[in-house]
Amino acid sequence: MLGVVELPVVAGALEAASPPSTAADPRDTGRMVPSGGPGPEAVAVAAPAAGRTAAVGVVAAAPASAPDPAELAAVRTLDGLRGLIGDCRRCRLHGARTQVVFGVGDPKARVVFVGEGPGRDEDLQGEPFVGRAGQLLTDIVEKGMKLTRADVYICNVVKCRPPQNRNPEPDEVATCSPFLHRQIELVAPEVIVTLGKFAAHTLLATDTPITRLRGQWQDHRGIPVMPTFHPAYLLRNPAEKKTVWQDIKQVMARLGLPA
Ligand code: URA
Repeated sequence: MLGVVELPVVAGALEAASPPSTAADPRDTGRMVPSGGPGPEAVAVAAPAAGRTAAVGVVAAAPASAPDPAELAAVRTLDGLRGLIGDCRRCRLHGARTQVVFGVGDPKARVVFVGEGPGRDEDLQGEPFVGRAGQLLTDIVEKGMKLTRADVYICNVVKCRPPQNRNPEPDEVATCSPFLHRQIELVAPEVIVTLGKFAAHTLLATDTPITRLRGQWQDHRGIPVMPTFHPAYLLRNPAEKKTVWQDIKQVMARLGLPA
């Protein structure tokens, strides 16, 4: 069994290799962004998905570049959704990316983890959460929840790496998030875990700070959401691992997984 104190131990080795943080408020960004990027009060957006009304909150109208709601609704499988995304050039993120990073795991997973956007390793490998932060997420899934990455589903709000790992811009999130909404509809998980500020703000259509959201059950279109800190933040702040472990234990209890 993984105790409260064990996640920090697991990540001790990872922490040793962590570069210094340059984020303005890593609890909110969850990413190592250059100084001068959006601060903790950066506005969240939530684009309406096909045939749905967006939740009340901080909502931007879907830009012209956003996917056609009818095409999204017509897609019936994750493979079909990946096909619809194609060699996406709907927003400026396509310019610096190597490839679209769609998602990985069980298409019928009981739990979906949602991060912010691919980093360098993910951009190169085409799979979400495979870098150092990804290794920590893998530890949470495998050592903490006693599952495998193949048992869960892992994806991001934006499917292309923002250049220099900057935060995604509101119009980029508005363009790409309809794909995330459909991805979640197709997997239809019992629980969503949002990792960091962007995923929580996008799915919950709020700009409430992640420090207030985390650990409290929320709702995304009828699916329970547990917001927690981003693994990249944990790499820089290992003392918060016990906090995330408390959040994950709530998820495990909800899923009936043995503690
Ligand atoms: N950070 C994210 O938010 N997503 C990834 O896939 C990797 C790092």
